[in-house]
This record gives sequence, structure tokens and C-alpha cells, in this order.
Amino acid sequence: MITQLVYTSSATFDPASEEGSLHLAEILETARRHNSQAGLSGFLLVGGDWFAQVLEGEAAAVTGLFRRILFDRRHMNVRLIETRAARERLFGEWAMGSTVEPLYHMPLQPMIEASLPRRLDFPFDRIIACALREAQRLREASAKG
Ligand SMILES: Cc1cc2nc3c(=O)[nH]c(=O)nc-3n(C[C@H](O)[C@H](O)[C@H](O)COP(=O)(O)O)c2cc1C
Repeated sequence: MITQLVYTSSATFDPASEEGSLHLAEILETARRHNSQAGLSGFLLVGGDWFAQVLEGEAAAVTGLFRRILFDRRHMNVRLIETRAARERLFGEWAMGSTVEPLYHMPLQPMIEASLPRRLDFPFDRIIACALREAQRLREASAKG
């Protein structure tokens, strides 16, 4: 079994700005280098001012990384949505995949708040579904070259 962890956070920089895209490139470069060494995979959704990330791998590696991510000043309000045990990875082909085009148009709040009080499992599934959709777009974009 592997562990999947989903969290959301608020960016402390504007990912759409020129400087922001440099921050983002740096985050992804570090993530890919470190994650491939640690046997971690996942997907980072990037909105206009938010992140939602799926981390997957061995439990100790996932929680160890999450502890580091918590204190990263490039984001704040880090909110753990849920961790789950899973038989298989959903994003095994990426040390850290990310949206081809950041989802600047998509607000995070409705995605998270929609049904929080009634169905606690909804945000996890919703974020995973969104990441899977973006993963498919990424695959199609890389197939086109
Ligand atoms: C939104 C976000 C996502 C991140 N994702 C990862 C990740 O998947 N893997 C990783 O190693 N670092 C990730 N980082 C960077 C870590 O917070 C940290 O800076 C990095 O792992 C280097 O840690 P170190 O300086 O303690 O070696 C992320 C940072 C942010 C802001």
C-alpha cells in the first residue's frame, strides 16, 4: 500500500506574474529532483492564488515531505485535506506533474467549500479528479511535443 496526501494552500506570490513563474519553476525543479530520489510522485494544481497538491509514496516519505512543505514561505494557510491508503499510484509517471497552463480562472474556495459540512470526503475526490483531468491534458500536450 502507498499513502496519498492531499493539501491545499494559498500562494504568497502571484503565479501569473513573471517573477511568480520563476518561483514556480524553482518549486517544480526541486520537487522533481527530490521526489524521484525519495520514490515520491504526485501532481501540483496551480491556481491564480492557490495550490492543491497530491503527494503519493511510502507513508514516511510522504509525511516527511509534507512537514517540509508546511514551512515553505512561498505559500501559507496550508490545509491538510486528507490522507488515504491506496493500492496503486495515480500519478506514478510524474515525480511531480503540474498543470500545463495554470488554472488561473478556477477559484479554489467553491471547489473546497461546496459540501464540506455534509461530505468530508468530497474535497479529496474532487481534487484528485481535477488532478487526473489535468494529468491527461499534460499527457496529450507532451504527446504533441
Ligand atoms: C506548493 C509547493 C509544493 C512543493 N512541492 C514539493 C515537492 O513535491 N517535493 C519537494 O521536494 N519539495 C516541494 N516543495 C518545496 C519544499 O517546500 C522545500 O522547499 C524543498 O523540498 C527543499 O527543502 P530543503 O530546503 O529542506 O531541502 C514545494 C513547495 C511548495 C510551495
